[in-house]
Amino acid sequence: MERGGSRFSFHDLRPDAGGFLEDVITGLSRPQKELSPKYFYDERGCELFEAICGLPEYYPTRTEIAMMRDRVGEMARHLGPGCLLIEYGSGSGRKTRILIDALQPLAYVPIDIAARQLAASCAELARTFPRLAIIAVCADYSRPFALAELDGLAARRRIIYFPGSTIGNFTVPEAGAFLANARAIVGAGGGLLIGVDLKKDPARLRAAYNDAQGVTAEFNLNLLARINRELGSDFDLAAFRHRAFYNEGLGRIEMHLESLKDQQVTVAGRPFRFRRGETIHTENSYKYSVAEFQALARGAGFEPVECWSDPERLFAVHYLTVPPSSKPIGRR
Ligand code: AVJ
Repeated sequence: MERGGSRFSFHDLRPDAGGFLEDVITGLSRPQKELSPKYFYDERGCELFEAICGLPEYYPTRTEIAMMRDRVGEMARHLGPGCLLIEYGSGSGRKTRILIDALQPLAYVPIDIAARQLAASCAELARTFPRLAIIAVCADYSRPFALAELDGLAARRRIIYFPGSTIGNFTVPEAGAFLANARAIVGAGGGLLIGVDLKKDPARLRAAYNDAQGVTAEFNLNLLARINRELGSDFDLAAFRHRAFYNEGLGRIEMHLESLKDQQVTVAGRPFRFRRGETIHTENSYKYSVAEFQALARGAGFEPVECWSDPERLFAVHYLTVPPSSKPIGRR
């Protein structure tokens, strides 16, 4: 698609609504009920997440953006010009614009599950960078997908940009598998620039997920509202409350929705019983020390090159590369 001189294409590889229903039924049938955080991001969810990013208690976004502004020159020197820049979960694209401005990539490939937000942020990017080739992919990047269009691009190297500490949503083994897949996608000589929230004072962590204005609570509860809207269920939002706590042993924030009474909810004709105090586990947000994350990435075939942090040591941005001669791991 040609738009105002920019080269822009949009590929819709969105999972269908059937997958959502199936995941909800499966998750609510477990002894510990659970729903995947990837389903937070309907239109309302995206709006609420943007609001979270501006909350006084939610330090990650503003800390990472400030780090990008301060250190992007150094980052761009490491990454080098002319790369194919692939971004997972591009969101509003504020950090991306800072990076692209300094980096001058050959092409930019944002991959996001939220179609409207992806289209909007790409349109904005295309206005700012009219000569940049943009290949937008609406897909669930936690599942494998293929894009033949990327194979024809003669980029100097492939770099994955994964900001926001979204990797924290994966369990540690899942994060390891995700990194191994990222390594396979960028190939030998490729790189990964990734934002990772650091371990810190649990009180600071708890506050970030229990904001005074209740925006995070609304974000969490919107998942039930979304299921009501899209899957035909009868969750009473007033009969659940937001709970978020730091699980120190596992190094993660856990978000849950707690049933305030014994109740039964019907989803697509199926009954689900909740005891008072029973929860639906809706999100994990793992926190990694620099050394922990580097060890995990090494296990997936990356070599740490540089790690940036803020003066308060709240957040880290890592740059890691795949050695030029290395063979894919886990394959022959
Ligand atoms: C987008 C997954 C990085 O874990 O901090 C914010 C999501 N959840 N507040 C995070 C989130 C509640 C966020 N990530």
